[in-house]
Amino acid sequence: MSERTFVMIKPDGVGRRLIGDCVQRLEKRGLKLVAVKMRILSREMAERHYGEHEGKPYYEPLLTFITSGPVVLMVWEGVDAIAQVRKMIGATNAFQADTGTIRSDWAMSNRYNLVHASDAQDTARREMDIYFDEHELVTYSMPDEHWLK
Ligand code: CDP
Ligand code: MG
Repeated sequence: MSERTFVMIKPDGVGRRLIGDCVQRLEKRGLKLVAVKMRILSREMAERHYGEHEGKPYYEPLLTFITSGPVVLMVWEGVDAIAQVRKMIGATNAFQADTGTIRSDWAMSNRYNLVHASDAQDTARREMDIYFDEHELVTYSMPDEHWLK
């Protein structure tokens, strides 16, 4: 089933000049970019995004990190996109992420792990709603779609 997932390139991904590489992987795999923008997140937005982690020892450092520089906010669409993108980014801790994933290939940290991606349909909806108005999600078709399902 075709679905949409929210992906963020975190400040380390931007700072380490990996925007293009991250986008290229998703694009070349066959996912379709339906929304993109760059922001420096406010503390309020970061709290909304990572609220479920409140109380964890890494919560404050995480908020400091995620608001420390620009992030790229994106929505990608494709068959089974939520699970497929999670597989492509790899485990949270880059030291444990499978080889060939974004985090394994380009990160060396349990915090500075380059990208965020939604982990379920309800979180995808919630995260898209934090950053995008419905009219900012562009609906269009691609000529290669019949090879990607
Ligand atoms: O991003 P993901 O869903 O894989 O991991 P999470 O468990 O939902 O944690 C959210 C983010 O918190 C991670 O991506 C890390 O950037 C950060 N984190 C951290 O700084 N220290 C930890 N011990 C665990 C997570
Ligand atoms: Mg998570």
